[in-house]
Parts: sequence; C-alpha cells; structure tokens
Amino acid sequence: MLRTSVGERPTCSTEHYTNISELGGVRMLSAAVDAKGEAQRPSGRQLSQQQQQQQYTAASDMGIEKYAGRVALVTGASSGMGAAIAQELLKHGIHVVGLARRVELIKALEVKGSPGKLYAIQGDVGKEESILSAFKWIRENLNGVDILVNSAGVDHETDFVSGETEHWRQMFEVNELGLAICSREAVQDMMRRGVDDGFIIHISSIAAHVPVFIDGFGMHSVNKTAVRVMAEGLRKDLVAKKSKIRVGQISPGFVKTNGINQSEKWAQIFDTMPYLEVEDIAKAVVYMLSQPPRVQVHDIIIRPTAEFYG
Ligand SMILES: NC(=O)c1ccc[n+]([C@@H]2O[C@H](COP(=O)([O-])OP(=O)(O)OC[C@H]3O[C@@H](n4cnc5c(N)ncnc54)[C@H](OP(=O)(O)O)[C@@H]3O)[C@@H](O)[C@H]2O)c1
Repeated sequence: MLRTSVGERPTCSTEHYTNISELGGVRMLSAAVDAKGEAQRPSGRQLSQQQQQQQYTAASDMGIEKYAGRVALVTGASSGMGAAIAQELLKHGIHVVGLARRVELIKALEVKGSPGKLYAIQGDVGKEESILSAFKWIRENLNGVDILVNSAGVDHETDFVSGETEHWRQMFEVNELGLAICSREAVQDMMRRGVDDGFIIHISSIAAHVPVFIDGFGMHSVNKTAVRVMAEGLRKDLVAKKSKIRVGQISPGFVKTNGINQSEKWAQIFDTMPYLEVEDIAKAVVYMLSQPPRVQVHDIIIRPTAEFYG
C-alpha cells in the first residue's frame, strides 16, 4: 500500500521547470519500501487467482477516493477536455500536474478550496526531451505518477488531397508518438515504485470507431484508430508483465472545446449539430477511476444525443 507524508514545497530545479507553479505545500507520496528500496507488495505470481479476486473484492468499496492524495499527470491541461479533467480530479483530492505549452492557462485552473494541489508544467508532448524532463520533475518533487490522462492532441484541418506534410507530422508526433512516450514513462515510473493500481487513460475519439465519417477527417481517424490499437497493445503488454496497472480510453463524439471553436468552419458546424460539453468527458474519467480494481473499463464511447454523422 502507499503511504503519504507531508513533504517539502517543490521547487523548480532546471530551466525546463521555470514555469512550474508553486501553489503551496503538497503531500508527498512514498511507496512502502524495504531495506533494498524495493516495494513491499506481493506480486501477482505469489497469489492464486482466487486470492487475487478476494483481494479485489475486499477493495471493491473503494471508489475514486482511493486515489485522493495521489498524483495524476494530465497532458493538454491548458484547454478543453484536459482542463476539465484536471479540475475534476482536483475536486476529488487528487494532485494534478498539468502539462501543456500554454502554462499560464493551466495555472488559472486552480479550484479554490479543492483538496488536490495543482502544478503547472510547460512542456511540448511533441518533443521527447520535454516529456522526459516533465517526468523527471515529477519524480524528484512528487515521487511519481499514479494516473496519466493523455488528452493533449492536435487536429489540423487537413485532407489527403492537399494537406500539408508538416501538419501531418505534428499530428503523428503529438497524437501518437507523444502519447506512447508519456504512457511508457508513466508505466515505468509506476512499476519502479511498485504501484499496481495505476491508471493510463487515453482521450481517443468516435473517429476510432466510425472511421472517416466526414471529409477532411481522415487523418484524425488515422490518429485515433492508432490510439485505440495502442491502448489494447499496452494492455496486453501489462498483462504479459503480470501488472494490474489499468488502461482505458474515452472516445467522444463532438465536444465543444476552445480548440475547435477557434475554427470558423467548426463554429458554423457547431451551430447546426448537437455537441458534448467538456464536463461530460471529465465525468467519464471519474467513472473509470471509480471502479474497483477488478474492473477495467476499456473504452467509453460518448456521443451527443442525436448526433447525425457517422
Ligand atoms: N473536441 C472534440 O470534438 C474531440 C472529439 C474527439 C476527440 N478529441 C480529442 O480530445 C483531445 C483534447 O482535445 P480538445 O477538444 O479538448 O482540444 P483543445 O481544447 O484544443 O485542447 C488541446 C490540448 O492539447 C494541448 N496540446 C496540443 N499540442 C500539444 C503539444 N505539442 N504539447 C503539449 N500539449 C499540446 C493543448 O495545449 P497547448 O496548446 O497549450 O500546448 C491543449 O491543452 C484531443 O486528443 C482531441 O483529438 C476531441
């Protein structure tokens, strides 16, 4: 089990972290470790399936509160779904590290009176060194990550007839490579600390299930189909390692976000069709995290009522 203790206020240690907000003291987390520094936690191999099931059943009354005081990294926290998810987790007492390029927007997410603490990191999910720096800061200042929500995403208006190569490159670098690197680093961090109830959540899309439902959305469908496959790939890799770290994805239909509203074309489309609000997605994340350890919600498809494409 994890223990908590009161720790020091984190400070910025490298130039990568010059924009990390210092929002007061934080409860630092530390895994129970033995003299060799290894986590004292029975491995899956030491327990029979029945014992493991009993263990899960005993823990089944634990909802999202089991993550209170723990650390979630939310990428793309400066806007849209990532911002709403970050705020929802803070309200549930989870300490949130928000990662995005527009760090000032993350700092503004602080929820007054919420039990969770917010840390804002300026970082670029399209650059590996930036991701690795963020994980290093979290390791050194908050001990590690217990939950990762991959919400950072870039969706250029592009098509396969005249789309720009650079737009496609950015979409792959952020939506695929960045998501895969963040997930790998989070899983390694969890395993290093013996955290077996960690959670990786990808924000995917209805486009992973209903491919190319509209012209100009082909690359988005490619990206999100890859995310869906990566989620199952990671799940199988974790099972192979006898890990109980869970992987889930949320596949929304249209959600009204700042990113999309900035486009004139999409502002007009939103005028004519139903859409979801960011809170709907944040609540789905809470639902996923609220399940007992034996339940891995694999994918939540959420569509606006009466959505007419696809
Ligand atoms: N809105 C929809 O209808 C919809 C539907 C299905 C799926 N999605 C997916 O949902 C996710 C969230 O999108 P959203 O609608 O909430 O859009 P949004 O409001 O535009 O938010 C996108 C977020 O991603 C971050 N981001 C983009 N590039 C980044 C980079 N290189 N490094 C770090 N952060 C980066 C942005 O932060 P900075 O710009 O500050 O870096 C921003 O916080 C995306 O993966 C999107 O594909 C959206």
